[in-house]
Amino acid sequence: MSSWAVGALTLEVEHRRAGSDGGATLRVRETGDGREWLRFDCFERSPHWHLDPAGRDEITRLEPGADAFAWTSAELRRDLAGYLTRAGASLAPPPDAELAPALDAAERAMRNPIPDFDAVRPSSRRPSRGEKWSQYPEDVLPLWVADMDFPVAEPIRRVLRFAVDRSDLGYPIHPAPTDIPDLTAERMQRLYGWSFAPSRVEILSDVVQGMYTAVHQFTDPDDGIVVQPPIYPPFFGSVRKTRRRLDENPLVLGANGYEVDADGLRAVGDDRTRALLLCNPHNPSGRAFRREELEAIAEIAIARDWLVVADEIHQDLVWQGFEHVPFASLSPEIEARTITLTAASKAFNIAGLRCAVAIFGSDELKRRFNGLPRHIRGGIGTLGIESLHAAWRHSEPWLDATRAYLEANRAHLVDVVASEFPGIVFHPPEATYLAWLDCRALDLQPSPFRFFLEEAKVALSDGPSFGAGGEGFVRINFATSRAILDEALERMAKALR
Ligand SMILES: Cc1ncc(COP(=O)(O)O)c(C=O)c1O
Repeated sequence: MSSWAVGALTLEVEHRRAGSDGGATLRVRETGDGREWLRFDCFERSPHWHLDPAGRDEITRLEPGADAFAWTSAELRRDLAGYLTRAGASLAPPPDAELAPALDAAERAMRNPIPDFDAVRPSSRRPSRGEKWSQYPEDVLPLWVADMDFPVAEPIRRVLRFAVDRSDLGYPIHPAPTDIPDLTAERMQRLYGWSFAPSRVEILSDVVQGMYTAVHQFTDPDDGIVVQPPIYPPFFGSVRKTRRRLDENPLVLGANGYEVDADGLRAVGDDRTRALLLCNPHNPSGRAFRREELEAIAEIAIARDWLVVADEIHQDLVWQGFEHVPFASLSPEIEARTITLTAASKAFNIAGLRCAVAIFGSDELKRRFNGLPRHIRGGIGTLGIESLHAAWRHSEPWLDATRAYLEANRAHLVDVVASEFPGIVFHPPEATYLAWLDCRALDLQPSPFRFFLEEAKVALSDGPSFGAGGEGFVRINFATSRAILDEALERMAKALR
């Protein structure tokens, strides 16, 4: 339960079941003796509100399916004094300046029951339609592909259920206007201080699609594209499968983890090198590149006249002490040659719903990108759009709770590796729920990936799939319940012993 005292009143939010119904309740109480004067039961099936629930208890139903949370906070903002008078309370309502933030906080809390992160057990994830839990036999714990094992944010679950319950699954409104561009621009400004016009935003079905499309539309076969391995495997695919030339400039392993080799970047490729594919925050190393590092990349990209495709899908998963700097936000000059690709899918764990956004640094970039007929890219599902909206508009409290759980898992992983995995080295990720374990000193045969799969029954991601320099490494995904993480780590430690 959460509560906010504002003057003579206290707002109280609770999530509860009531018979076959349930959901969020907002109570308005008298601060002194706790008497309840108003109650808003924003329940899933039959939302309603109570006038004087402790006395004459007059109940009014709300329209099912309407946004009861928004209605409740708007009504109280509009006329709390009137509601209190009707309930029979002789209390002065707080001034608007105090009431409004408390109502905002109460509305966010109503929308976001905190999930039980510990509830996930192997048996509760199987059978699964997702590849994470279906790729390997049942005795294998999957800590590989970048999905999380947590309950989805309640606002997302609600929009999905609402659409399905009403069979509201017809053609999506895209390309007619949605509010996703405005929402994207507002959120980027609020969280990362990056301003751009909503008209520069395009909805895609996924980030990798945006990367392939950019390569296809802005370069020609045999042009060079710079990629800095180790890197998320589709970066290679978007170059090779479109018959471009891979210009590799490997990251270098310094004392604090992977760093960009700026001298190498200045010299890589030739005058047919046209673009750089950047991953920030970086998968698999977990680096959240510093502003100075990004500025060095930007300077080179400008000097060499490259397009930059910045994959920033992990932007919201940056750990305390580090920050996400959107590459395009560095300067108007670099923004003008950058296409940023991002999504809610990683941080809010809805990759199966296929929705992402591209943010173009100029109208011309957007025009050329969209030169690929829309039907080649394919349509975007309504549920993906609705879920992106629910994530970015209403689910930040879920994300805060998820980040706290992930940070604790990350700290735990650091401890366990230090104490139980002698010889394995890793730099704790600055971002992402992925850790890149350097097992080279152990010479695990036939490879660390196969060793842990066969000897520990734990599926990790195989280092070499991230390109040159990945031999001897595995990537572990720690976005799972502590129970599963512990079991996997224990199995791995036992195999090593
Ligand atoms: C860096 C990076 N980019 C893109 C993706 C995939 O994005 P999408 O499913 O939107 O193509 C991932 C998934 O793990 C990723 O780590």
